[in-house]
Amino acid sequence: MFRAFFVSLSRATWAQKWITRLPVARQAAARFVAGETQAEALQAVRQLNQRGILATLDHLGESTTRASDAQQATAEILSLLDAIQQAGVQANVSIKLSQIGLAVDPALCEANLWKILEKARDLGNFVRIDMEDSSLTQRTLDLYLKALVSGFADHVGIVLQAYLYRTEADLTRVLTAGGRVRLCKGAYKEPSTLAFSRKADVNLNYDQLALQMLRHTLRHGTPQVSADGRTPPIPALATHDPQRIRFARQAVEELYLPKRAVEFQMLYGIRRDLQESLAAEGFPVRVYVPYGTHWYPYFMRRLGERPANLWFFVKNFFQR
Ligand code: FDA
Repeated sequence: MFRAFFVSLSRATWAQKWITRLPVARQAAARFVAGETQAEALQAVRQLNQRGILATLDHLGESTTRASDAQQATAEILSLLDAIQQAGVQANVSIKLSQIGLAVDPALCEANLWKILEKARDLGNFVRIDMEDSSLTQRTLDLYLKALVSGFADHVGIVLQAYLYRTEADLTRVLTAGGRVRLCKGAYKEPSTLAFSRKADVNLNYDQLALQMLRHTLRHGTPQVSADGRTPPIPALATHDPQRIRFARQAVEELYLPKRAVEFQMLYGIRRDLQESLAAEGFPVRVYVPYGTHWYPYFMRRLGERPANLWFFVKNFFQR
């Protein structure tokens, strides 16, 4: 209920107009967002790299409704890939297909994606396609599978969500096609006809899917992971949940896989202690670093994930 309310709020333009004007909202969002500019985001990445942590940079933006906005977002992502190269930081890039035109015109989105992937391939970098709500799952997956057979296989990965019933079948399909997967629980509001609604069921499915990926790695080996930390292994486990992490670590041990066979991923500003302890133990850890001015929907989803975040926000509001 709590989470669903914030996911609805993330789409409400009236709320966006009102909330983004509040200085206290901008301050609260700063915990989860590395800044408004590329330079600020790269600075955050340098600090992570100094702590032995890799990054994936996300230029915030989603649900674009105009072709010109999709083109502008694509240009920013291309320039981000160049900036990563110039700065020499250990980072790749995460994108959303709705940001580069999926809802405007699928052909435009595909053309933009191809430009981005060509740039990533030229620079030896990697692009992760985030997964959005279930209205876009099939289209996102179709485009990803097309990218895999179009010469981009080493430069692109996808995200799958453990809360969707369909994910087990999608994961099998993606692994068979040689894809790389970031597994997350899922951050949107989905009906019970499509997604598990009980947390315990999502968690159980998460563990089973993580195990499926690790067994796949055991059978097929870990693909070449670039020394600059840009190309990730096949299973990337995106969660801050200590029990999910414990389960995956135990599976890695029991399957006699090396620590580098899996990458743990977390969000900027969340569980820094856990990020550091896993990295100190020798596991690859990557932090998702969002930046830009379109922070509102991302911030709302983060508020909805943890009631304590809301109290923190409300307390600051009344303290002013
Ligand atoms: P869970 O929600 O059970 O939280 C476990 C613990 O983590 C909490 O007890 C708390 O300590 C901490 N925590 C979690 N969220 C917090 C928050 N907002 N603030 C403070 N503490 C928090 N989703 C999606 O649908 N598509 C996508 O492409 C992605 N991409 C993505 C990338 C990366 C790197 C991560 C880490 C996550 C995503 N997600 C995502 C979001 C994901 O689906 C999920 O909503 C969040 O990760 C929260 O779920 P947890 O697995 O952390 O577990």
